[in-house]
Amino acid sequence: MFRNLIEISQLSKDDVFSLLNLANEYRIKMPRRFPDDIVVANLFYEDSTRTRVSFELAAKKLGLTVINLDIDKSSANKGETIEDTVANLEAMGISIFVIRHSKRDVIENLADTFKYVSFINAGSGAHAHPTQCLLDLLTILQFKGSFNNLSVAIVGDIKHSRVANSLLHGLKLMDVADIRLCSPKEFMPSKLPIGTYVEDINSALKDVDVIVTLRVQRERFDDSLTFSLNAYRTHYRIDDERIKLAKPNVIVMHPGPMNRGVEIASSVADGDKQCIFRQVDNGVFVRMAILSSVINFQQKLVSAT
Ligand code: NCD
Repeated sequence: MFRNLIEISQLSKDDVFSLLNLANEYRIKMPRRFPDDIVVANLFYEDSTRTRVSFELAAKKLGLTVINLDIDKSSANKGETIEDTVANLEAMGISIFVIRHSKRDVIENLADTFKYVSFINAGSGAHAHPTQCLLDLLTILQFKGSFNNLSVAIVGDIKHSRVANSLLHGLKLMDVADIRLCSPKEFMPSKLPIGTYVEDINSALKDVDVIVTLRVQRERFDDSLTFSLNAYRTHYRIDDERIKLAKPNVIVMHPGPMNRGVEIASSVADGDKQCIFRQVDNGVFVRMAILSSVINFQQKLVSAT
């Protein structure tokens, strides 16, 4: 149980296993529904398809009421701060805020300011995406049975990827020993606290159990970054030839949205090694588990006062 989910590093290994187990239970049997006067607001200040719909479905499956604020048509366009937006929605009784924002610290700051509601990070800048990390871990666990003795290669634009950043922390928490990060130098973060940098894709994929492909995130490039899409395709695209370097039962993951033909060949995206749609499916159950943990925390707090 937790009030907010801001970063994966706030969770212990046991917390993660409890959430994954709960998500797996929800896959098999729908839980009891919560009262519909508990309201979740989806505030997405950046584009989203999967994460937003997944949170909405998860909330509805739990019996909650969901408000999707259309940020492009909201008072944010009239200069209202995100703090004022949250304060107004809180005044209407909304108690859970699912937020995606381009700035790293916005969600954490909101959680410090508003003490009686909950915040769930649905993606903060290039920094964190904890719910994606949990659905990625659940997918790996389902296909591989455990995290022991796994080799995982994360390939692509790691520098700009909140998915990679959170997953690295998640894999470390699960004691995954062999974590390889593969990208051209310009896509590597300056500091690498977790994993081993392997520039050459053939070495990075050799005998791995899991390949995680990442989109080239042009919207986060700074002006100094020079980049050739053709060179990237040639050296880093995951295609049928390259996945033969991995273990025969390798799984290929992608958080979406995919740029087919760039970081992943269509034949792999549609092939028998991909588990991309399982990731999406798991996302709903993981987010149900997160929402119910947050609500249980809030209900316990109310009953204690
Ligand atoms: C990612 C994101 O927005 O961080 N997608 C997602 O949430 N499933 C990855 C991306 O945009 O490439």
